[in-house]
Amino acid sequence: MKTLVIVGSQWGDEGKGKVTDFLAQKADVVVRSQGGNNAGHTILFNGQKFALRSIPSGIFNPRIKNIMANGMVIHPKQMLEELHGLEERGITKYQLFISNRAHIVLPYHEALDGAFEQFKKDKKIGTTKRGIGPAYADKANRIGIRIADFIEPCVFKEVLKQTLEIKNMELKMLGLEQFDFDCIYNEYLEYASEIKKYVCDTSLLLEEEINKESKILFEGAQGVMLCLDHGTYPYVTSSSPTGASVPVNSGIAPRYIQDVLGICKAYTTRVGEGPFPTEIDGDIATYIREKGHEYGTVTKRPRRVGYLDCVVLNHARRVAGINHMALMLFDVLSGIENLKICYAYELDGKIIHSVPASEYEYSRVKPIYLEMPGWQEDISNVRSFEDLPVNAQNYLKKIEELTHIKISLFSVGPDRNQTIVLEELL
Ligand code: GDP
Ligand code: IMO
Ligand code: MG
Repeated sequence: MKTLVIVGSQWGDEGKGKVTDFLAQKADVVVRSQGGNNAGHTILFNGQKFALRSIPSGIFNPRIKNIMANGMVIHPKQMLEELHGLEERGITKYQLFISNRAHIVLPYHEALDGAFEQFKKDKKIGTTKRGIGPAYADKANRIGIRIADFIEPCVFKEVLKQTLEIKNMELKMLGLEQFDFDCIYNEYLEYASEIKKYVCDTSLLLEEEINKESKILFEGAQGVMLCLDHGTYPYVTSSSPTGASVPVNSGIAPRYIQDVLGICKAYTTRVGEGPFPTEIDGDIATYIREKGHEYGTVTKRPRRVGYLDCVVLNHARRVAGINHMALMLFDVLSGIENLKICYAYELDGKIIHSVPASEYEYSRVKPIYLEMPGWQEDISNVRSFEDLPVNAQNYLKKIEELTHIKISLFSVGPDRNQTIVLEELL
């Protein structure tokens, strides 16, 4: 048995989809255990590009069991659109299993997500407006609808009626349009009947796989800095993408979590609002944004860009249990004369090496940088560490030194082939 958890170590979009797809070639099972269609995971192979949102990135390999586990919030309509989109592109032989304990996202969640953002005005989070926060809030408030209830028409009718009564009161209070029971019920009943064939108790399935000594990959969504507990609250998502969240979100024992692979860009990006100490503007930011195509996979928003922040990576190492790192989008840095890496912050005249909890403090920290000479060579065809320009080798080694994490693979382009393994993980 071998398990590996893939965790975004920054603010999301680090290349988790690419790494999952790459490592999935050796895996038996791929599990998404949290988040929903707020994620956008890009995968490129054989000249084809795919953007997955809630479906696990092992879906391209007919041998792999893909699990959408209990910790996810699943938008039935969008998830089926995603699946049909894959089928239209020839991905028809797949194995998909959906947890009967996962929650569903309904149109009122999206409406509430948009409305809360509007009310917050300049304090808005910059959510993906996919209803993720309101769906997780309903789960915690025990008025969510689980897949097990969704796929039984008479149960769905009853729970939707009760829930919609509450949600419509909420919507009315906020001055928003209310939802008609029959409209939602009739439309979603069809999605439920289509989804039913994928539904099972995925915790039991995982136990079987563990007993069979399978290789299991847990594909995290978002990133540690967007974690509900350990991220830049309130500018975070509504679930936890850490290694520790995997057991509860997928129904396995904590002792089965073996290795945690952090995924990090060679620089930093963030989409949405909230503190971002190493954020930069100007020519270098534009260069990175254009070269790295730093526009949201889901919302197409331009991503905010900054230098690599090792305080963030050390925070991620500690709270997410990261013991290996994948360095992504390394090719994007070619052509920048001087590179900066943040290794500490200054806060009110004091040097600190950790991420403050309060937004009031974190929004005031000043990054302290070390500078390193960059490299001009295009590295997108490099296939070994030795082939990297010396300055790129030094940059990689410096990250290992500052984070105390071994870089086990690096990536020099979006394609599956542009992945260089330094240490076998699966
Ligand atoms: P995820 O959410 O963590 O799966 O990441 P996204 O897919 O949202 O964003 C990562 C982006 O970087 C995608 O457009 C990928 O195709 C692209 N990408 C991944 N690795 C590399 C790389 O090494 N170099 C370049 N240039 N692009 C990459
Ligand atoms: P992947 O898996 C980047 C961000 C949103 C917003 C905040 C809350 O592709 O890395 P939400 O809709 O979750 O309530 O939004 O979190 N966010 C992401 N940013 N990558 C993601 O996923 C994200 N999922 C959510 O932009 O700032
Ligand atoms: Mg993404």
